[in-house]
Amino acid sequence: MDQLTAVILAAGEGKRMRSRQPKVLHPLCGRPLIAYPLRTARALADRIVLVVGSNADDVVAVAGPDVRAVVQRERLGSGHAVLQARPECGHETILVLPGDMPLLSVETIERLVAHHRKSRAAATVLTAIVAEPQGYGRVLRQGGRVKRIVEDRDATDAEKKIAEINTAVYCFAAGRLWPALGKVRPDNDQGEYYLTDVIGVLSRAGGRVEAVVTADPGEAAGVNDRKQLAAVAAVQRGRILDRLMEGGVTILDPASTYIEDTVTVGLDTTIHPQVVIEGQSIVGSECVIGLGCHVSSSRLADRVTLLPYCVLTESVIEDAATLGPFCHLRPLSHVGPKAKVGNFVELKKSKIGRGSKVPHLSYVGDATVGEGVNVGAGTITCNYDGVAKHETRIDDHAFIGTNTSLVAPVTVGEGAYIGAGSTITKNVPPGALAVGRAPQVVKEGWAARKSRKREEHRG
Ligand code: UD1
Ligand code: CA
Repeated sequence: MDQLTAVILAAGEGKRMRSRQPKVLHPLCGRPLIAYPLRTARALADRIVLVVGSNADDVVAVAGPDVRAVVQRERLGSGHAVLQARPECGHETILVLPGDMPLLSVETIERLVAHHRKSRAAATVLTAIVAEPQGYGRVLRQGGRVKRIVEDRDATDAEKKIAEINTAVYCFAAGRLWPALGKVRPDNDQGEYYLTDVIGVLSRAGGRVEAVVTADPGEAAGVNDRKQLAAVAAVQRGRILDRLMEGGVTILDPASTYIEDTVTVGLDTTIHPQVVIEGQSIVGSECVIGLGCHVSSSRLADRVTLLPYCVLTESVIEDAATLGPFCHLRPLSHVGPKAKVGNFVELKKSKIGRGSKVPHLSYVGDATVGEGVNVGAGTITCNYDGVAKHETRIDDHAFIGTNTSLVAPVTVGEGAYIGAGSTITKNVPPGALAVGRAPQVVKEGWAARKSRKREEHRG
């Protein structure tokens, strides 16, 4: 099999995005746009050349070390862009992929490459038949054979009626591509060197130009502006949900569920409406993700239950733990197996041990909580003194009474008890009881005395 070089074009300015950020770095379902053609290229090609514009170090960084990057210093058109890749290309088949068409499937590109090789064509264009061809290059055929491609802005009214469009994905025989590119002139509306003109050059020279029509024209959708970005994201989101459902995940309302491409979800997990799961999140099997939860870069083991409206960021939840409703796990929180974190609880950089409970209205930050601990309602770790953060340690089986303030740094020993309403400023030894609150004062008959006094005053 001959060697396949994928050339990915990403040097365009992306003007229509109206953005300070390079177009191909805009995120689509959790990955930058450029990650999609890169993934396709990695699946099929022996080498990958990425053409970027100047100031595109960020794009090169995202691409990774297996990609040969070349810089197109002046934006003189897609043909000029491909020419910049020449020194890095192999001598056999060249596959050109635009950086801004993330919906192209590996299967489609595989079919294009296979057809190109089988037919020994000079060039093979991937085309699509679409209902609204406005804006795209049109494929001009003669007796069924592709003759040339005309850009929308250069097309006559008759040509504009053609529904077969150029997807801007092509295979070329390297030996035919380079001489043909040399013949391309910038004699068009934009004064650019169009890669599309190579097709006309080759066909006029008697070269064999083939076309493969996409089975699903939706794959040809490009991202040139933010409206197209949203439209493409909607399709990609549907694909992700389909993949998850095919893999055994129940999604109660796909229309309101947003799961990024980077996420994995295990068998028999049920996802309720209005859930967002993003980043490098991993959700295990048989979990329940309740209404309105937002899970970001977190790892949930198996049989975890998130009751409605939990917000989790960079946290780890172990087997069979239950969270929510309405809890907030800030980065580096770790909830142990079978633990329970209840409503209106905020955790930050804290570990809750196996089977421990923080059921209501607490803030636990910079804390290590052991196993079988009960943290009463309204307990607060006072971890910040205005300058630095301090740690709290609560050892196994301790019992923290409701409305306790733990002034860190502080340790509550194994099996110790804290009386409700305490402010704990000193370490509590294992097995001890600590009560740190003003002793209660009781004044018998006080109310009656008070009302008598009031009457005397009036009289
Ligand atoms: C291009 C095709 C058009 C096709 C459409 C499909 C050309 C001339 N036209 O139009 O026939 O129907 O795609 O979506 O190719 N690029 C560079 N350097 C440049 C110019 C462009 O790297 O100097 C890259 C862009 O980053 C992009 C690709 O080439 O990935 C296509 O350029 P773009 O401006 O998006 O062309 P379209 O108008 O979409
Ligand atoms: Ca484009």
